[in-house]
Amino acid sequence: MGWFITFEGTEGSGKSTQIERLARRLRQSGREVLTLREPGGTAISEQIRELVKHYFEGGAMTPETELLLICAARAQLVREVIRPALLAGRCVLCDRFYDSTTAYQGYGRQLDLQQVQSIIDFAVDGTRPDLTFVLHVPLAVSEVRRMARGQPPARDRMEEAGRDFFARVEEGYRRIAAAEPGRVKWLEATGTVEEIEAAIWRECCRLPGLVPA
Ligand code: TMP
Repeated sequence: MGWFITFEGTEGSGKSTQIERLARRLRQSGREVLTLREPGGTAISEQIRELVKHYFEGGAMTPETELLLICAARAQLVREVIRPALLAGRCVLCDRFYDSTTAYQGYGRQLDLQQVQSIIDFAVDGTRPDLTFVLHVPLAVSEVRRMARGQPPARDRMEEAGRDFFARVEEGYRRIAAAEPGRVKWLEATGTVEEIEAAIWRECCRLPGLVPA
């Protein structure tokens, strides 16, 4: 089996840069690597991503609908892509996975955490990350980085959710990291890209057999 590593954090925390860098290092050490993002990664899941991020027609999407759509996208991705890749011995690096659902739909949207967990469990059916990095940047830094990217090409439902929402998401991530310290590594992502890359690599080297000696 390959290794399954996920990256979490609020907007502007530098996940995609770090995923690229880790993928490069793992490939250099001889691993086959697949990089994915959630929601997305299959034809159906990419369509669901569009809905979740950019659907503004009709009535407002309810938090329950958002939760179910995201978990539907995940159910497809797990079965169509992640499991076959892991079975083939590949390393799978995913930009967000189910901890995002706990943080955004559970804590952010304030849905019942136990219900959220059971829907996650149904969607992933036992496929769980071996290692998860939460890249944390303070809310103010996240906002500045988002602004610096300029106006997004389309309105984004999640980014319009407001400060209180993102404060709850951040609190959610803190609780997730505290509850599963073995799997979930909390990294302060305000250092340089190289410092964060090195911290991630150190953790990866602790996974037995991930990085060939
Ligand atoms: P991103 O790929 O630019 O991070 O956009 C994905 C958005 O979807 C982001 O705002 C977080 C949100 N999201 C959830 O709310 N719940 C989830 O389970 C996942 C995977 C993403």
